[in-house]
Amino acid sequence: MTNSDTPTATAVQITDLGKTYPGATGPALTGVSLSVAPGEIVVLLGLSGSGKSTLLRHINGLETPSTGSVVSLGHDVASLKGRALRELRGRVGFIFQQFELVGPLTVLENVLTGALSTLGGPRVGLFMYPKSLREKALGHLDRVGLLERAYQRADTLSGGQQQRVAIARALMQDPDILLADEPVASLDPESSSQVMALIREIAAERGLTVVCSLHQVDLALSWGDRIVGLRAGEVVLDMTTENLTREQVMEIYGRVATTTAEIDAVTAELAEAREQVLAAEIRRNAGERLQQGFAEEDPS
Ligand SMILES: Nc1ncnc2c1ncn2[C@@H]1O[C@H](COP(=O)(O)OP(=O)(O)O)[C@@H](O)[C@H]1O
Ligand SMILES: [Mg+2]
Repeated sequence: MTNSDTPTATAVQITDLGKTYPGATGPALTGVSLSVAPGEIVVLLGLSGSGKSTLLRHINGLETPSTGSVVSLGHDVASLKGRALRELRGRVGFIFQQFELVGPLTVLENVLTGALSTLGGPRVGLFMYPKSLREKALGHLDRVGLLERAYQRADTLSGGQQQRVAIARALMQDPDILLADEPVASLDPESSSQVMALIREIAAERGLTVVCSLHQVDLALSWGDRIVGLRAGEVVLDMTTENLTREQVMEIYGRVATTTAEIDAVTAELAEAREQVLAAEIRRNAGERLQQGFAEEDPS
């Protein structure tokens, strides 16, 4: 399995996936089916506990299905073992909420660890890595705007900078798919938008397929091409974000919400949105009637 494999029609094909963790009282995922095309940017949207991480972790084989199947880049993930599984994981980059950098190491060393799956065996220190890889890592650091930080300890960087280092690290694998699990949940709004924009830009440059979990509806709407909503382990919505009306947006809030307080808030907003739509229609109709009136009065 290499990057030159014939391209598959779908990057990820999930069919009727169910997952129950050992000892858990109920399932974490139930009957999840989802097909992601190469180059697509998909947001998994749902509250904490809705199953986002569990779903993402199935895509690169960190979890195995209890029922159903997950096919990533043409490979049935559950059937992969050993080397084949490592190869698949090598083609799937993963970005985490807490960045997962090694704090005392330099930024550059952290980026280089992204290449470990291609090297085999642990590396200690910069000069254990071939020069070509060091240059590649510096190139990725340049791309995420942190070249001048290469030799600084990773834990001296801000959260947003650390997540950009983690993006550079993921790029070392030359991934086909990028999975991001709430990548901005620990960041301030300013850094959040920077990181999300960077992920999109890089995905476009490299034709990456991206599946990114988020819990904020606004961010999901402004960022994703397609939103897949999860609630209590089930897919409750799957739609593109093009030309969504405010009413549809509120409907999204409603479907991913679970507590009564949230649902009440959504219902109220939905009612308000409907009123606005109605008011706009009345204004439009009134405008049309006026125009008609003018037309009838117009002697020509
Ligand atoms: N390793 C695990 N063992 C047992 N239960 C788990 C494990 N990981 C997640 N869960 C449970 O599965 C459900 C979905 O969790 P998760 O996928 O982490 O949701 P999210 O990422 O949307 O917060 C939750 O009820 C959670 O408690
Ligand atoms: Mg999670």
